[in-house]
Amino acid sequence: MKPLSKLVESVPGSPTTLMMQKGRELAAQGLDVINLAGGEPDFDTPKHIQQAAFDAIAAGDTHYPPPFGKPELLDAICAKLERENNVQAVPEQLLVTPGGKWAIYTALAALLNEGDEVMVLDPAWVSYAPMVRLNLGVAVHVPLPADDSFRVRAAQLEEYVSEKTKLIMVCSPSNPTGRVLTQPELDDIAAVAQRNDLYVLSDEIYEHILYDGARHRSIASMPGMAERTIIINGFSKNYAMTGWRLAWVAAPLPVAKLARTYQTQTVTSAASFAMVAGAAALNGPQECVHEMVASYAQRRNFVLEALDEIPGIRSSPIEGAFYLFAEFTQTEMKSLDVSQRLLEDGLIASTPGIAFGEAGEGYVRFSFATGMTDLEKTVERLARIVPTL
Ligand SMILES: Cc1ncc(COP(=O)(O)O)c(C=O)c1O
Repeated sequence: MKPLSKLVESVPGSPTTLMMQKGRELAAQGLDVINLAGGEPDFDTPKHIQQAAFDAIAAGDTHYPPPFGKPELLDAICAKLERENNVQAVPEQLLVTPGGKWAIYTALAALLNEGDEVMVLDPAWVSYAPMVRLNLGVAVHVPLPADDSFRVRAAQLEEYVSEKTKLIMVCSPSNPTGRVLTQPELDDIAAVAQRNDLYVLSDEIYEHILYDGARHRSIASMPGMAERTIIINGFSKNYAMTGWRLAWVAAPLPVAKLARTYQTQTVTSAASFAMVAGAAALNGPQECVHEMVASYAQRRNFVLEALDEIPGIRSSPIEGAFYLFAEFTQTEMKSLDVSQRLLEDGLIASTPGIAFGEAGEGYVRFSFATGMTDLEKTVERLARIVPTL
């Protein structure tokens, strides 16, 4: 048989998806596994959003939708960008996609030529670098310093810029670190992008999940940034809609045009009735979001306080998103081995820090978007296992 794709063979499968699957398999064997590996709200999609989709299906909205997004959803996204992000966009700048992952992938496809370099700020979400590679780009890992709370600084970014650099990928609130970029950090990224004529891909998928007064600002709203920023946002996290596969790209017109072409030759569109639900989410009451965030905040506080009592494990500050990115401070073990031990001895499925790049070594990521009972059990099990590592 002839060899298969060398390109696809060269990228790993998503470690979070694989770990989540492993946890599910153990649970199916009847084991009391706590699955904290994925990034999935434990809430069901709010009722009024579900109802909008039921109504759409009942009314026969089951045909091919407009490929780039239904007009009512595009209008709702434009209004949301203006209202919440101070970003002005026309519908032609938007592309509704089946999920945030595809939004990022499509944007990269529109932006990259072979060999273009993309700066990925490590620890970074597991799929950025593989997606760059699949689009024939080269991911350049910028290791953010753990001892400086993974802060971004212009001088460090400049060290990694070359003739071939095309794009900086940022994620705020961050998966996995929980950091929210501050204004000085945004200023630094914007300055480096403008000095070197770079695009910025701003992944804002956790934008509403913020704690202790942290504020999200889209870098696209800063002077001179709209024409070089591609915003990625979606419904999975903010509205507990992971299974609906619904997100969007908001980009400068030329980028949006190519991303739209790419979509017509690949997935065609997101699902028709999911788009109706998306419009209901953006246009409807936002209390559901506030309630979910309030609940994450309680769990975050519980986890942070509980971890303070366990020597050998230390949390990074959690300003947004729903991850605990914990450092294992008293062991020489690699994060992969720590994660493995937690699964074998504690039946806790987690994601090893190394999955987020070299800068994540020594850390393990746990999602706390899960019930309090599971979090209480997690803390008990960690208290038992961490001293033995
Ligand atoms: C940082 C980040 N971006 C994008 C996504 C993709 O979201 P979706 O589930 O909508 O594909 C995720 C999902 O985990 C994420 O954590």
